Amino acid sequence: MSKNSLASLLLVFSTSCAATSIHDGSAVIQSDPALLSCASAPLTYSCENTGLITNTCCTSTPGGLVLQTQFWDTYTGLEKKGQLLPKGSWTLHGLWPDNCDGSFEQYCDFSRQFDPDPSPAALPNGTVIPPWKGPSISTFIAEFGRTDLLNFMNAYWVSQGSPNADFWAHEFAKHATCLSTFDIACYGRSYKKHEDVVNFFDAAIRAFHRYPTFDMLAAFGIIPSNKTGYDLTDIETALTSQTGAKPFLGCSKNGTVLAEVWYFNHVLGTPQYGNFKPVNSTTTTSCSSTSKIWYYERTKTSEQEVRSGKSLL
Ligand SMILES: *[C@@H]1O[C@H](CO)[C@@H](O)[C@H](O)[C@H]1NC(C)=O
Ligand SMILES: *[C@@H]1O[C@H](CO)[C@@H](O)[C@H](O)[C@H]1NC(C)=O
Ligand SMILES: *[C@@H]1O[C@H](CO)[C@@H](O)[C@H](O)[C@H]1NC(C)=O
Ligand SMILES: *[C@@H]1O[C@H](CO)[C@@H](O)[C@H](O)[C@H]1NC(C)=O
Repeated sequence: MSKNSLASLLLVFSTSCAATSIHDGSAVIQSDPALLSCASAPLTYSCENTGLITNTCCTSTPGGLVLQTQFWDTYTGLEKKGQLLPKGSWTLHGLWPDNCDGSFEQYCDFSRQFDPDPSPAALPNGTVIPPWKGPSISTFIAEFGRTDLLNFMNAYWVSQGSPNADFWAHEFAKHATCLSTFDIACYGRSYKKHEDVVNFFDAAIRAFHRYPTFDMLAAFGIIPSNKTGYDLTDIETALTSQTGAKPFLGCSKNGTVLAEVWYFNHVLGTPQYGNFKPVNSTTTTSCSSTSKIWYYERTKTSEQEVRSGKSLL
């Protein structure tokens, strides 16, 4: 492309932006919150503010401790339906708002309760969470023409024992509804139904990219093995020395089988686009510090090659 045509393209682009609001008149269906008012809000890391947070669309509150969580599964249970795990990568679990002390809220907005099988079935005060009977959350993504997002999610946001889309709906309904920056009001007057859902999935994937667990462990010689177990301290050192803070490690089988990792963060700006600062886990590991920990190889037929897809992002 010549310099001139690039310049005129930029001119057309900037003119059309100036002439319309953030959401209207664009060829691409947007899923961005209207964050213009955040330009005048004080910029502090979540959980580190000294004054009151006045604009809850700009900073996650009260759940300012933002967790990016991942799973290491060796099978999905739905292999026959093509639900496979991504070779060379852990899988995305979610993006969770914990309160600054590590406690948390869940299912905060029943008008966006899209989870067909709520877990838990009721809130701590006994209020039953109504199961969603409507269309699959994957149809919301399709409404926005986001095949790229659906493909990425089916590759990396993989459930064990339930269809992927049910898991995504669970993550949105249980956690994203408690993330204040994803409140419908934050999307402004031109809010399009379900754009918060698409925006949340994009944000969770962005956060997931910050923490390439498989690669960080492999760089320290920690690779899946059915022959050699690892010491908890070696796994923790590998991740802590790359991220700058201690994540939570979750193990099954009485603390001997590595199954999950949670990365804790304070966020400057929004969890959508802001800067994540790793902080130490508020939760004690469930992995054994005395026995060897198994980081099992996956069942071969439970994995698929997806890295060509990863390179697109
Ligand atoms: C239960 O807790 C939720 C969330 O805090 C609240 O909205 C609801 O009013 C409570 N219900 C009762 C019966 O206390
Ligand atoms: C689980 O681990 C604890 C502590 O290492 C040990 O005392 C206990 O016997 C183990 N239980 C089983 C069922 O292996
Ligand atoms: C995490 O905890 C360690 C050990 O207590 C401490 O040295 C370090 O400063 C903490 N890191 C952060 C980011 O808080
Ligand atoms: C490794 O062991 C796990 C746990 O027993 C098993 O599920 C998996 O199929 C094994 N993988 C290989 C490649 O043998």
